Amino acid sequence: MNIAVFASGNGSNFQAIADAVKEGRLKADIKLLVCDKPEAGVVERASQAGVPVFCFRPKSYENKAAFEKEIVEELESRQVEIIALAGYMRLIGDTLLHAFDRRIVNIHPSLLPAFQGKDAIGQAWKAGVKVTGVTIHWVDAGIDTGEIIAQQPIDIKESDSLRSLTAAIQAEEHRLYPDTLQRLTSSISRRESEKI
Ligand code: GAR
Repeated sequence: MNIAVFASGNGSNFQAIADAVKEGRLKADIKLLVCDKPEAGVVERASQAGVPVFCFRPKSYENKAAFEKEIVEELESRQVEIIALAGYMRLIGDTLLHAFDRRIVNIHPSLLPAFQGKDAIGQAWKAGVKVTGVTIHWVDAGIDTGEIIAQQPIDIKESDSLRSLTAAIQAEEHRLYPDTLQRLTSSISRRESEKI
């Protein structure tokens, strides 16, 4: 299964996916990292992992459709089948959604539909909830909406700080994302081979 990872930041989820591929826990090839912030830490992680990078600055394009058209060309030329958003802080537009219909997955650090959008961990912390978590879902035109694929609740303990909660959520993301991608890619491969 050929996958692409999209990210905008530090890239710890990219790293977890790349490590799982290297260790054979995720049977996939990361064909491309797509990044909308050329200075982001994830770019260095991709070059260390030997993954090609497509970086762009959204402001240097006329509109979203213009940069997404270029992204689609990059993905198609590398026969990418699944896109994994890993901290890609940008709404996916029609151009990408149509080209990769039901083939884009996102990870979000809350139990959706609670705490959509930015700073979901901080939102949950401020709300004082006792349980939050991690969600993996198919991407549609909304912000952190779309059919849920996997969820893992995480208790917020009396002894937690925002920092310890963030660490617990990230550790869970790094386990759940590669595992879920492996389940998805193997069920897609099975479906494809049944068609032949
Ligand atoms: C992750 O916690 C991911 O769930 C979140 O961004 C972080 C990226 O961290 N995504 C969202 O909030 C999407 N709405 P990373 O760059 O270390 O992987």
